[in-house]
Amino acid sequence: MQVGRTLCQPRGKCCVAKRRVARNAEQPAASGGGTVKRQGTTGEGGAVLENVDSRTVEDFGKEWARFSYGDGRLEDVRSVFDSYFEWIADDLLSADRKGADFGCGSGRWSALVAPRVRELWCIDASAAALAVARGNLAELGNCHFAQEAIGELSIPDETFDFGYCLGVLHHVPDTERGLKDCVRTLKRGAPFLVYLYYALDNRPGWYRRLWQVTNAVRWCIAAMPHPLKVATCEVIAALVYWPLVQLSQLVERLGCNVANWPLSFYRGKAYYILRNDALDRFGTRLEKRFTKRQILALMESSGLRDIRFSERPPYWLAIGWKA
Ligand SMILES: C[S@@+](CC[C@H](N)C(=O)[O-])C[C@H]1O[C@@H](n2cnc3c(N)ncnc32)[C@H](O)[C@@H]1O
Repeated sequence: MQVGRTLCQPRGKCCVAKRRVARNAEQPAASGGGTVKRQGTTGEGGAVLENVDSRTVEDFGKEWARFSYGDGRLEDVRSVFDSYFEWIADDLLSADRKGADFGCGSGRWSALVAPRVRELWCIDASAAALAVARGNLAELGNCHFAQEAIGELSIPDETFDFGYCLGVLHHVPDTERGLKDCVRTLKRGAPFLVYLYYALDNRPGWYRRLWQVTNAVRWCIAAMPHPLKVATCEVIAALVYWPLVQLSQLVERLGCNVANWPLSFYRGKAYYILRNDALDRFGTRLEKRFTKRQILALMESSGLRDIRFSERPPYWLAIGWKA
């Protein structure tokens, strides 16, 4: 079966088929989201997908099938969308622009961006994720879908008027290569919004030590078989996330500053998001973290200028313009 690297129009009409890659025999179609080859292997057509961690992408396919944000769930995520986009919405989105959501996942951000722009390309390495995104975006007539790997995109240079890549580039083997590839597809002067996991560089020492403990837990959970991993993360959502969030809400109501309270970002957010993020946080094998300074250097070396960071969580969220 041939999969991947196709740029598709809405309603499944494929218009461009660049380099095609054979499905890895280790990843049968029934595995749900196993759509790309293991990192560094060679496909039937000679194409190599080097900048994909295939197990991570496979897991994301399953994650988005479970947390699809269908059935009205998109409203649950609107306040998170606002945290990402509202501070730069006027710079990034406008009705005459054609842009790209690099690593679109379920299409939850695309669903809220697409009505505000002319055309939106939803790009992800996972066929299972793209299937969910197609479902969520079916009513919108201006979305296109591409199963592609960031770092090896077949999209021509200077295609897009804007782009964003949220929560993706810390899950790829070579983050700089991925970022450069995204920026390459932007027109000169086009804005690009990126969210990369922070290295807790703006947090106190005790917070970073607590994170080290949770990271060791992540290694164990991420290695589990998928059903056990999902069940464990549901328990974490119920017994750790939910109580901590409730407590931070209570403490805030008493007049205290909860900015450094773990998981206080989730105050007022739907339990569905807590469950999804517990799985995202503890179920993902490849995760990297970056300081603000490292992200600035990455963005500059990728050809972005006038870089600005959001001063509010989630950290780090930054925008730059292609030089
Ligand atoms: C944490 S999810 C974020 C999805 C979306 N941006 C969001 O915030 O809802 C990361 C996504 O990146 C995709 N991904 C991982 N590596 C990729 C690569 N090299 N190229 C394209 N997509 C990739 C995964 O399949 C997954 O859907």
